[in-house]
Amino acid sequence: MTAIHSAKSSALQGEARVPGDKSVSHRSLMLGGVAIGETRIEGLLEGEDVLATADAIRALGAEVTRDDAQGNENVWRVIGRGVGGLTEPGQVLDLGNSGTAVRLLMGLAGGHAFKTTFGGDASLSRRPMERIMTPLREMGVQFQARTGGCLPITQEGPETLMPITYTLPVASAQVKSAILLAGLNAPGKTTVIEPQPTRDHSELMLRHFGAEVDVEDQSDGSRRITLTGQPELEAAAVVVPGDISSAAFPMVGAVLVPGSRIVLKRVGINPLRAGLITTLREMGASITETNVRGGAGDPLADLIVEAGPLKGVDVPASRAPSMIDEYPVLAVAAASAEGTTRMQGLAELRVKESDRLAAMATGLAAAGVRVEETGDELIVHGTGVPPKGGALIEADLDHRIAMAFLVLGMVSESPVTIDDGFPIDTSFPGFADLMNGLGANMGQ
Ligand code: S3P
Repeated sequence: MTAIHSAKSSALQGEARVPGDKSVSHRSLMLGGVAIGETRIEGLLEGEDVLATADAIRALGAEVTRDDAQGNENVWRVIGRGVGGLTEPGQVLDLGNSGTAVRLLMGLAGGHAFKTTFGGDASLSRRPMERIMTPLREMGVQFQARTGGCLPITQEGPETLMPITYTLPVASAQVKSAILLAGLNAPGKTTVIEPQPTRDHSELMLRHFGAEVDVEDQSDGSRRITLTGQPELEAAAVVVPGDISSAAFPMVGAVLVPGSRIVLKRVGINPLRAGLITTLREMGASITETNVRGGAGDPLADLIVEAGPLKGVDVPASRAPSMIDEYPVLAVAAASAEGTTRMQGLAELRVKESDRLAAMATGLAAAGVRVEETGDELIVHGTGVPPKGGALIEADLDHRIAMAFLVLGMVSESPVTIDDGFPIDTSFPGFADLMNGLGANMGQ
């Protein structure tokens, strides 16, 4: 374990480029693996989670290589096997800390008549997988899981997968994507109905690779996504945008540290991911999108973020899917705001890399913040002055808990210490260096 401290930051200044989007990176490797031809991915996130997916796709029979040619920035190449063309892996697929990797791959591999065994670290091995197994069982996949439906899991796909229509019981892009990826190798139409729209990177990228995906917004606010199975996917070029979920940390740091003004370059601003920007603006933050341009999938922008006082707000449950990974750092912003911030509809936070609702409530209280945690709500009472800090926070194998509290340390009276900075590499390699380059004061 390597502890990391964060002490009072200087005003943040300058430009930074956060690593590639994690969701887009996973999907580009997976779709590249079942496309015909060579997919070139530029700007891939080279964090532990995505590297685990690269290894898994290789073990499933595709060719995956990093292209180290001069001038390249995180360029990877995948030579795919075509839809239904993956082969049985000769080893357990260990997806480390990554829920997205294991859940999407269960869908992708489930469309093949072979056995796959999935494993992961202590955090991943306590996360619920029944939500993936239930729809995949309906499609004909068989599972053997540990008690409680947890990893390790061995599964076997049928000779012919059954296309299904499935209504998601929870708002989860991972469940939606697992069904669509399995549906790639099912004859006929596979439909997912989501009560609340979730990130649509799978739909956008499936289309980009040539699949037919129809999306219908219904009058009750739900969304119906239909994939026509067994398409010929053709290799495509993917440019991965900067991850808004990683940009969230320097963004909140710059809003909180007086005198700050930074530019975060080429951040993905897909509207189904941008709830944090909406919320911070409602709290009074100055965030300007400049140089907005369209990518193959997600729109990109350079974000200018300036420091300023924040006030507490109510964050409605309906916004949760568009900022589900940003609540830890939003809670840190709320701790310095004037007034109460009430965040609703957060039940899903309990089954992330850690129980993030409990982790935020415990950590903020230890840092001197008045906070209330109920079943699915977090209420933070800010006083308009930065918290006391001085706490030792257990990261509990959760990268976003670690980074959120390091941002708290940038403004708190006394430094904050994270017991283990190692999990940060899952999504944001080089986090402390990037933050220090802007003016933060983080180190071992
Ligand atoms: C993700 C979906 C979300 C999110 C995760 C990435 C994805 O999870 O928390 O970090 O790439 O599909 P859920 O589907 O569990 O909400």
